[in-house]
Amino acid sequence: MPSGNKDLRCSPQTKQLVIDTANFYMEGVGREGISRAELAAQTREIEQAQRRVQDGSRAGLDAEFAALNLAHEMPAQLPQIQEMAADLRRHQDILVIGIGGSSLGAKALQQAVAPQPPLAGTPRLHFVENIDPYFLQGLLSSLDAGSTAVLCISKSGGTIETVVQYLILRDWLARQLGGKNAIRHQWVITDPKRGWLRELAEHDGLPSLSVPPQVGGRYSVLSAVGLVPLAVLGVDIETLLQGAADNAARCTNADVTSNPALEIAALCVLLDTRRSKRTAVMMPYVNRLQLFVDWYCQLWAESLGKWDRSRPGSTPAGTLPVRAMGAVDQHSQLQMYLESRHDKFFTFIELETCEYDLPIPLDGFDVPHFPFLKGRSMAEVIDAEFHATRQVITDAGHPNMTIRLPVLNAHVLGQLIDLYQRATIYAGLLYGINPLDQPSVEIGKRLAIDYLRGTPR
Ligand code: PA5
Repeated sequence: MPSGNKDLRCSPQTKQLVIDTANFYMEGVGREGISRAELAAQTREIEQAQRRVQDGSRAGLDAEFAALNLAHEMPAQLPQIQEMAADLRRHQDILVIGIGGSSLGAKALQQAVAPQPPLAGTPRLHFVENIDPYFLQGLLSSLDAGSTAVLCISKSGGTIETVVQYLILRDWLARQLGGKNAIRHQWVITDPKRGWLRELAEHDGLPSLSVPPQVGGRYSVLSAVGLVPLAVLGVDIETLLQGAADNAARCTNADVTSNPALEIAALCVLLDTRRSKRTAVMMPYVNRLQLFVDWYCQLWAESLGKWDRSRPGSTPAGTLPVRAMGAVDQHSQLQMYLESRHDKFFTFIELETCEYDLPIPLDGFDVPHFPFLKGRSMAEVIDAEFHATRQVITDAGHPNMTIRLPVLNAHVLGQLIDLYQRATIYAGLLYGINPLDQPSVEIGKRLAIDYLRGTPR
């Protein structure tokens, strides 16, 4: 098998992500892959993208790409973050209100790396994200306001779903505890200066932390937005940031062979623009990464789904991210992947070391039916399933890459987050669009408000 950026061996000392892009190339997957010559022909654009990221990352949290500096800048703010987390931890239940980038990252990391079973005294976190009166009513009826904290997270401080649910929860606290007491159950994370939530925090004297103005929602998981809820859960947030910093150190070069984020971005863009691969399937073989895929889908879609019509001859950018889960989707979407249109590329994620493995107990009756399971464990079964699926996808000619996680911990997730935030920004620059804004989403937000006013266009 020809090798791409790295082979699949993992160094147990460094615990680095192992990123295998070999099957994105023609040598690995045949004519649907990208040739080395096609990639080399993009050298100028690739070098420019790297220079833009380098220049745009120079001014710390004031930089254009400030999100890529959080790993280095946030350690200085950890005392305030831990202080807020300690106050929140005095409660039994915490309602984390926020949507999109203000909640997906913390949810993903909670699922992936929060201590299991939860550490003694850890509050229950409830993410109040989508507008659903049935859900919220059910949740409130199960809570005791006296031991409940509300943490409202919104960069803009005015997102309608977040505002509405905060207003309802604030009222619920006030009715249960009295207005003065209710204030002591509310915390806020928002812009340092602007927005309704910031004004409210100042007006009511609510404890608050800031989201750096240059860090957009979907790039904010390594700011207070993600770090506070994760610290509440006992996730090692310092190590998470270290993991991101370690990945950043791997991605400083303008040469794709020694910058995995740049290589992933360049190949994904070429697969779209040269091979018409319009769908990006991410398929981990680890249940705990299901919500990480949701985080990735938002990051990729909201950052890259753009069309800069002001550029002559421009076409729509972006590949549609699709969630899949191994082995479940082998019994579902795989049929379509194998026989339907060749308009997809795949990212597999596998876990090298399973912390808990279970041997498969067979007795004399079972052995003749499943002789191949003799002496095998559950981890060996999922490993075989992953290899089999990757092989059929490759044999079908679909470009694919594999990220191998040496273990699943905060350091590795930090690397994965930095890798994808960086790859997304590089991809946006290679497409020639702005990966940091979301102009069409904003139009929808304004129109929803027009509907509430009773004046839709
Ligand atoms: O990435 C983004 O900018 C969005 O997904 C936001 O995170 C989402 O709209 C929520 O915005 P806010 O944090 O301002 O409430």
